Amino acid sequence: MEDQEEVEGLMVRATERWMLMERGKDSPESLGGAGTREFCPAWIRRAEPADLGAMARIESRSFSNPWHPRTFRSLITQERTIVLVADVPDDGVVGYAVSWWVLDQAELGNIAVREDRRGRGIGSALLDRVLDEIRERGVESVFLEVRMSNARAHALYRARGFIQIAVRADYYRNPAEDARVLVKDLQNICSQFRIIR
Ligand SMILES: CC(C)(COP(=O)(O)OP(=O)(O)OC[C@H]1O[C@@H](n2cnc3c(N)ncnc32)[C@H](O)[C@@H]1OP(=O)(O)O)[C@@H](O)C(=O)NCCC(=O)NCCS
Repeated sequence: MEDQEEVEGLMVRATERWMLMERGKDSPESLGGAGTREFCPAWIRRAEPADLGAMARIESRSFSNPWHPRTFRSLITQERTIVLVADVPDDGVVGYAVSWWVLDQAELGNIAVREDRRGRGIGSALLDRVLDEIRERGVESVFLEVRMSNARAHALYRARGFIQIAVRADYYRNPAEDARVLVKDLQNICSQFRIIR
């Protein structure tokens, strides 16, 4: 019962909240213009079965080893898993983020934005919202792996306070590549993490 109420509460919050990208929030002038990136308003909400097709298309164009659509289908029904999508007016689902947690630790399992919508704040908005939601559930730290060569993703995580704590050799295939293991302390209590570069 408690879980059901929690899920319903979350859905209400998710459907009520339009998210205007951080730098677009203050004034219309800050949306685009000379010397600034164009930010795109998107609605960040829980993924639904109807979103799965768009998510699978973004996934297959974003990764060399994409998740199977069945994986998304299964994750959107799991407890202790958050699957969010970014929904743009007149365009639909252009990105998603997936995180799951066990006790006080979470994993950011996936995040992607459709190629033509990248660089407009959508990845940051998805990540911020996932972090807020898992923090609210008492999760203390969130981990992720990212390809060494994925500079854009690494910049996104670094800007959100993730630190590198390890390197996993040959973690990825197609092409083979090491992974950075990053962690973010969500409650400012995990001072034992040691930064490595
Ligand atoms: C990583 C990804 C999700 C970021 O989404 P996005 O919508 O482009 O992200 P944002 O626009 O919020 O930008 C996030 C950060 O990326 C960097 N960035 C954005 N556009 C960039 C560009 N054109 N060139 C280099 N870095 C850029 C910036 O550091 C930016 O932070 P800032 O806005 O504080 O400066 C997106 O690039 C993507 O889908 N990549 C393919 C899938 C992937 O690699 N997922 C991560 C797996 S670990």
